[in-house]
Amino acid sequence: MNDQARRPRPAKPYRRPKKDPVRMLAFEALRAVDERDAYANLVLPPLLRKAREKDGFETRDAALATELVYGTLRRQGTYDAIIASCVDRPLREVDPPVLDVLSLGAHQLLGTRIPSHAAVSASVELARVVLGDGRAKFVNAVLRKIAAHDLDGWLERVAPPYEDDPEEHLAVVHSHPRWIVTALWDALGGGRAGIEDLLEADNERPEVTLVARPGRSTTEELLAAVGEDSALPGRWSPYAVRLAEGGEPGALEAVREGRAGVQDEGSQLVALALASAPLEGPDERWLDGCAGPGGKAALLGALAAQRGAALLASEKQPHRARLVERALAGNPGPYQVIAADGTRPPWREGSFDRVLVDVPCSGLGALRRRPEARWRRRPEDVAGFATLQRDLLREALRAVRVGGVVGYATCSPHPAETRAVVEDVLKGRGAPAPAAEWIDARPFMQGVPVLGEGPDVQLWPHLHGTDAMYLALVRRTG
Ligand SMILES: C[S@@+](CC[C@H](N)C(=O)[O-])C[C@H]1O[C@@H](n2cnc3c(N)ncnc32)[C@H](O)[C@@H]1O
Repeated sequence: MNDQARRPRPAKPYRRPKKDPVRMLAFEALRAVDERDAYANLVLPPLLRKAREKDGFETRDAALATELVYGTLRRQGTYDAIIASCVDRPLREVDPPVLDVLSLGAHQLLGTRIPSHAAVSASVELARVVLGDGRAKFVNAVLRKIAAHDLDGWLERVAPPYEDDPEEHLAVVHSHPRWIVTALWDALGGGRAGIEDLLEADNERPEVTLVARPGRSTTEELLAAVGEDSALPGRWSPYAVRLAEGGEPGALEAVREGRAGVQDEGSQLVALALASAPLEGPDERWLDGCAGPGGKAALLGALAAQRGAALLASEKQPHRARLVERALAGNPGPYQVIAADGTRPPWREGSFDRVLVDVPCSGLGALRRRPEARWRRRPEDVAGFATLQRDLLREALRAVRVGGVVGYATCSPHPAETRAVVEDVLKGRGAPAPAAEWIDARPFMQGVPVLGEGPDVQLWPHLHGTDAMYLALVRRTG
């Protein structure tokens, strides 16, 4: 062996890791979601604001950071399965910050168009900054294994064949907890295509939809303000305008002035259907019994004003009642906002002509909005709402006069939170309730296709482009 061969290789000079503000921000947001149970949609805006001021973030950077956080959280189930097959210990033994860097890297490799070498090197640099050089080597090794296949290649390896275990297959491929796949499939019925479309729709970012509050703004005003290339009229609601990606509602004067707001079209349809159901006799006093944060209350308030009716918006949580105040500010007709428990209401029996109870629920119908929600919910949560939902519906039936209409709404399609609640209350199961009968809600969502067999209505993200809102209309008969 010659001298040269015996000489140790010169150590590479130490290079400081490069800080990439977009990945750093995405990591910080993921840690907050993980550690503090924070909501991504609440954590991100202040982080992005700070980055705009401090790091000169541009719209492009903010869009990438948002996509990295939302995409990583939504696809967490799939990425966990893939990462688990690339490490030699159970995932629960991998430090959570390391797992966050790996998931963020997996998303860049498998869920974006970022070239593999850039995804790996950006993740390793991030790991060097936030985890240290030792653990960065581990990250590098795992991500190189992940980079060996594309997403389809990985799904073939880590998801069981559909024929062997359909629910587990769908859970891994579409990144939902298995129990949610089961619950959604039960609610939706049908074969493989429908549930796959629904699960895929849950993984899409929902459009931002505006409502032009009737009598206060118009869709024409909103479309003109946004520009026709950047917005479209709603699909179903005559008051809806859909913003193109990146549209900023806060930039619109009508939104700043409360004449318009951000509201999913499904939520608009629920308020509109309740307002359209026919009534005999007076139609002067409307109640929203679970009003916070106030989307439906603001639309109901505007509709009530046009008809000369007054709205009482009631919400148990005082801080949410304040949000309702804000949503209703400037409403052209009479309204009042109170903080009250709808199960022990301060109003007299039979005080109202129309009542909405949009009850607290598991939120399984709005999974597209809260990317982390599906991993936080537990099957027992659904049963946890059962008593409250029934109590609120019973009290709503007491609040309405004989002949008046109650709308029972949830943002969950789970049968235990929807029809089962209404049937139990109408049949007097568990506790007595005023006599009431179903109203077919479908005619009050005119033009909306595939509403099922009625009398209640279930909207779906993949069929209607809305959250999976449920609405039952009932009339008090005695
Ligand atoms: C699904 S949200 C309502 C959303 C609202 N309708 C909207 O469109 O913005 C349910 C609301 O009911 C409230 N709530 C929970 N328990 C309640 C109770 N016992 N009485 C009245 N409101 C209650 C929650 O605080 C929450 O704000």
